[in-house]
Amino acid sequence: MFFLTPVLVAVVCILIVWIFKNGDGSSKRRKGEPRARAEVRPWVDEDLKDNTDLHQGEEGANDRQESEEDVEHIPFSHTRYPEKEMVKRSQEFYALLSKRRSVRFISSEQVPMEVIDNVIKTAGTAPSGAHTEPWTFVVVKDPDVKHKIREIIEEEEEINYLKRMGRQWVTDLKKLRTNWVKEYLDTAPVLILIFKQVHGVAASGKRKVHYYNEISVSIACGILLAALQNVGLVTVTTTPLNCGPRLRVLLGRPTNEKLLMLLPVGYASKEATVPNLTRKPVDQIRVIV
Ligand SMILES: Cc1cc2nc3c(=O)[nH]c(=O)nc-3n(C[C@H](O)[C@H](O)[C@H](O)COP(=O)(O)O)c2cc1C
Ligand SMILES: *[C@@H]1O[C@H](CO)[C@@H](O)[C@H](O)[C@H]1NC(C)=O
Repeated sequence: MFFLTPVLVAVVCILIVWIFKNGDGSSKRRKGEPRARAEVRPWVDEDLKDNTDLHQGEEGANDRQESEEDVEHIPFSHTRYPEKEMVKRSQEFYALLSKRRSVRFISSEQVPMEVIDNVIKTAGTAPSGAHTEPWTFVVVKDPDVKHKIREIIEEEEEINYLKRMGRQWVTDLKKLRTNWVKEYLDTAPVLILIFKQVHGVAASGKRKVHYYNEISVSIACGILLAALQNVGLVTVTTTPLNCGPRLRVLLGRPTNEKLLMLLPVGYASKEATVPNLTRKPVDQIRVIV
């Protein structure tokens, strides 16, 4: 029996090593998949190229969260329409949203701030992973700040167009006649910069996981676009490549916030033009199973 002891010791050692190597809590890795952090926390989005906060406070990320107080459940009240009215409302809403266009020529005429507050309130009705509401809407009115934003974006966008984007992307954009000169960043009376909070901070100071934060904030942005269309204001959806960290610092936002989208908002200028695009008909975008 004694000759078995070294073998047993070896087996125990191998087991211990194996347990340690796999001991990060989630071991059900499928074959061939890389062991990445993203796999452990699949709801965490890839960083939008913001390296300014890498691994800062990362240790706390997997701590169990203090469960918040229980929420009372109450009867749901809603409006049900007769079918005829449903059809009418669906047609009317489609007619309204089908007129939405990305407008890159925005007049400097001021817009009522109450309207801006209301459209942001509307965006904030979006669903969010575990009701974390992981969004921050920064409204920029100050002409100096707008101009600084323009300088940062034009500087980066010039490099994007000339170096980062590649020939195919630049060719695909030709028909839209976009380039790195973004006058609307000065002229639009309001810029709304939408940040996704990649995590929150609980009352205790611990990190609070923001599940699916990018999807949640993207839904809020879609609702915001619809709300702007509803009041007759225009915007253009922009995702300033490589500008996130500098804009975040300029606006004094914390490191857990990453820029997702920038919307210049105002009235269309009188001489505004848009590309004559068509949209796919419904039988090309929906399948019935
Ligand atoms: C995620 C996303 C990013 C976009 N980024 C830009 C951008 O950086 N600059 C721009 O001029 N338009 C941008 N657009 C607008 C698209 O070019 C526009 O939506 C598309 O051409 C369709 O036109 P429409 O919005 O008028 O229907 C973006 C749109 C989306 C959804
Ligand atoms: C836009 O293009 C369509 C064809 O795709 C054409 O029927 C329509 O007249 C054009 N609109 C304008 C304003 O030129």
